[in-house]
Amino acid sequence: MSALPEARPARRPMRLADVEAVAAIEAAAYGHPWSRGNFIDSLAAGYLAEVLTMPHDGLLGYFVAMPVLDELHLLNLTVDPAWQGRGLGGALLDAVEDHGRDRGLLALWLEVRRSNERAQALYRRRGFVEVGRRPGYYPAAGQREDAIVMRRLLCQADALD
Ligand SMILES: CC(C)(COP(=O)(O)OP(=O)(O)OC[C@H]1O[C@@H](n2cnc3c(N)ncnc32)[C@H](O)[C@@H]1OP(=O)(O)O)[C@@H](O)C(=O)NCCC(=O)NCCS
Repeated sequence: MSALPEARPARRPMRLADVEAVAAIEAAAYGHPWSRGNFIDSLAAGYLAEVLTMPHDGLLGYFVAMPVLDELHLLNLTVDPAWQGRGLGGALLDAVEDHGRDRGLLALWLEVRRSNERAQALYRRRGFVEVGRRPGYYPAAGQREDAIVMRRLLCQADALD
């Protein structure tokens, strides 16, 4: 892993004008990427969506999360493949959790492909635990792939009683 350059990445809300660049990263990062329409719909729905940018380097990563009642569902967390392994995914995940706590939400949920061990390792190290599986949830080459459902509490467990 190489060190980040002097300039620091900055976060800001995702805008419609970002969708082209976001979709390009999405297509590079996933075998079954979200479409432009998925991002446009998320923005129209008012979901929590932010991008990470660097001066001169443009967009490095992003997340989309959907508040549902007193919980937050992480729908998309992606770092440009050229920028992965430098702590940016962890920083984006921290930001999602901070937003959840700031809003007084109780838990952060996500689904991850069973084969995506890298993302699972990140989530487990950040305190997520597996709470279920969805068989055949994701499209995959010639078949379907299970989703692992993970949850991280954002508050004291007794607040859930
Ligand atoms: C998953 C993803 C968001 C992680 O972002 P990232 O910027 O590469 O991750 P980071 O550099 O912050 O590293 C996060 C953790 O993974 C570890 N890690 C980094 N590279 C790794 C690798 N090749 N294999 C396993 N673990 C690795 C780091 O040590 C770090 O652990 P730490 O938080 O305890 O220090 C990014 O790899 C990605 O966009 N992948 C494709 C899209 C995807 O799978 N998204 C998640 C869908 S649920």
